[in-house]
Amino acid sequence: TAEIPILPGAATRVLKYTGKLLKGPQAAIKQLPGYLGPILNLEQGQRVRIFFYNQLPEPCVTHWHGMHVPQIMDGHPMYAILQGEQYVYEFEVKNPAGTNWYHSHTHEMTARQVYQGLTGLITITDEAERKLDLPSGEFDIPLVIQDRSFTSGNQLHYSLTMRQRMQGFLGDTILVNGQRNHVIPVKTRAYRLRILNGSNARIYKLGWSDGSPITAIGTDGGLLEKPETFPYIMLSPAERVELWVDFSGHKTGSELALQTLPYQGFSMGMGGGMRGGRGGMGMQEGAVDQGSKDTLVRFTITEQVSDSPKLPDTLVPIHRLTVKDVSNPDKTVPINIGMRRMTFNLNGRIFEMLDYTEQERIPLNTVQKIRISNANPAMGGGMGRGMRGGQGGGMMGMMMALPHPIHLHGQQFQILSRKPGYADNAYATVKDGFINSGWKDTVLVMPGEEVEIIKPFMDYTGLFLYHCHNLEHEDMGMMRNFFVS
Ligand code: C2O
Ligand code: CU
Ligand code: CU
Repeated sequence: TAEIPILPGAATRVLKYTGKLLKGPQAAIKQLPGYLGPILNLEQGQRVRIFFYNQLPEPCVTHWHGMHVPQIMDGHPMYAILQGEQYVYEFEVKNPAGTNWYHSHTHEMTARQVYQGLTGLITITDEAERKLDLPSGEFDIPLVIQDRSFTSGNQLHYSLTMRQRMQGFLGDTILVNGQRNHVIPVKTRAYRLRILNGSNARIYKLGWSDGSPITAIGTDGGLLEKPETFPYIMLSPAERVELWVDFSGHKTGSELALQTLPYQGFSMGMGGGMRGGRGGMGMQEGAVDQGSKDTLVRFTITEQVSDSPKLPDTLVPIHRLTVKDVSNPDKTVPINIGMRRMTFNLNGRIFEMLDYTEQERIPLNTVQKIRISNANPAMGGGMGRGMRGGQGGGMMGMMMALPHPIHLHGQQFQILSRKPGYADNAYATVKDGFINSGWKDTVLVMPGEEVEIIKPFMDYTGLFLYHCHNLEHEDMGMMRNFFVS
């Protein structure tokens, strides 16, 4: 048992970390400077106890995103504690090696609390990972990407324009590990990069500045079966990706930057009239548009070394879930993204603390096929048509055509299929950047798209959330409970 006290500080204050957990094999992972919480380095099979003290003058609760834990340990907003109270979390680490994270999940305050710093990384290691001999210690680098806006006094500033109320918060500055223009000195050898998109609403299209392909070794739920390369990788809020990058052969003094590449932002409209989200309801001055190009972090080569680990051909075995594994193949659980009265909803409903429908009742120890559909916004009919090409659609139609990163609590799932809705130019700018092969807990569903997933619901009964991880959408009620029983 390791004991980890976590003390949420006031808004932009640094979280205090007074524990002595860092004993495991990954103890060498450096803690991040700045406003982020401590990195919790855990091991599969370990029992962990976390003391959470609320010293804020508002309610707060912490969710262990990606972790398979019982309902009372999962940070459901019904368990929020008030100032001066404490919550003791205790659970066994069931997840395999990978990168998870924790963040506040307070009713209607998640977006602002996460924005103000109540977020941290969790790494997990296990036997299978240790055998692989992946880059570790100083060669295993966590990167948390978040966009922020600042006041003239250089304090974090959180406010939403009219447009951002629908679109989610977009800041004027993209930070990595809390820093702008982050530069990391590296040696000519292989590195493992653990990347978390900890932004409220911004979606990144990760790519290398020299145009070389990008190699993934892990997703939300852990390592992939084998390394996979992509021209670029889409990373929406809450998604994690682990990269392998080898700086061998680069000259001392040269640099390679990890960028977010341009894509069509879908901010307010798609295609035609309102491309890229310009126009519409007053752009926020300063905010970087969704889909703009930017440099995230620069790696500068400072030292030549001659030995480097080799990229393994295979990583960890993954039992590929198919329709055959589904407990009730004739019944697909729907998650239909809709909108009514300027509010996004799921299956026509918005969040209510303890509410679930018959459809949201899941028998314990089953495997379910779930279809997430962003194809049929509630307005339907004429509006729908308008949206499609962006021609002639009214403002409402335009606004519904947004991508949504859908997250499900509990166990990790697998992606069964993706069916693009609008095979248009916009989709073409993102379509090669989805990793569909690994364990996932969050999946980006593009406008018009339909994504089928297979998810086990084992071990724990109770209420488990599913929601859009665009945190402004979540807070406006784009969240529901599954009741597992
Ligand atoms: Cu990371 Cu319910 O969320
Ligand atoms: Cu979660
Ligand atoms: Cu959303």
